[in-house]
Amino acid sequence: MRLMAEQDQGRYQCLLLEEDEIDAAITVICLDRTEYEEMSPERQHEVWNIAENTLRSPTYELYALVDTQEDRLVGKAMIEYMDEDLPEITGLHVAPDQRGKRLINIAYEGCLLSLREQGYQEAMVRISPNNEASLKAASRNGFEEFTRDTGVDPDLANHRFLKRALDPLAPKMRFGAGHRAGNAADGFEHPLS
Ligand SMILES: CC(C)(COP(=O)(O)OP(=O)(O)OC[C@H]1O[C@@H](n2cnc3c(N)ncnc32)[C@H](O)[C@@H]1OP(=O)(O)O)[C@@H](O)C(=O)NCCC(=O)NCCS
Repeated sequence: MRLMAEQDQGRYQCLLLEEDEIDAAITVICLDRTEYEEMSPERQHEVWNIAENTLRSPTYELYALVDTQEDRLVGKAMIEYMDEDLPEITGLHVAPDQRGKRLINIAYEGCLLSLREQGYQEAMVRISPNNEASLKAASRNGFEEFTRDTGVDPDLANHRFLKRALDPLAPKMRFGAGHRAGNAADGFEHPLS
């Protein structure tokens, strides 16, 4: 796990999951470990495969939002690298009892840092038009609506597309982010295991 952003003196953290962290990925994908434990073995196997493929795929990155004080997973996010110039932040979710506390800002900050480190100049999100909470949060995080060619897919045509520019990172920040992350990830296994 790599710490990408934090809030409230480190209480809330956005962690990037890395390749061998399959257990954590399962928890994040299910959003609830108990839910996973109650699944049939076949369904558990499917979820396991999804988690494994997500971690291994160069097309996705998976992020966990954690409340370190309560030792609990409170949300998730993903980055999808389908469009080589315009990665998409997707799968954003905050636990229902934690909404309205701006926790989504940490998820955005963590994802945007990763993209900036990789040298991307823009990022996008796709939001359904009636998802007011998500539209508000995206605009608060610097995203603005744009028109995207969605081809013939009627489902996509119903979405709103927003993007924002990304500032390049100063070289010393690139080093700083990795260094800080290594320390923080060490003592932080419980919420997702
Ligand atoms: C969209 C979502 C990720 C926002 O996360 P969040 O951390 O609650 O975001 P914020 O705290 O910035 O709140 C955003 C807006 O949610 C609304 N909100 C506030 N409290 C809320 C609550 N208790 N329950 C639901 N929505 C609430 C408000 O409209 C708020 O905007 P405002 O405070 O500026 O008026 C979260 O609502 C969620 O997980 N929704 C379900 C999944 C989803 O829609 N994902 C996004 C797909 S694109």
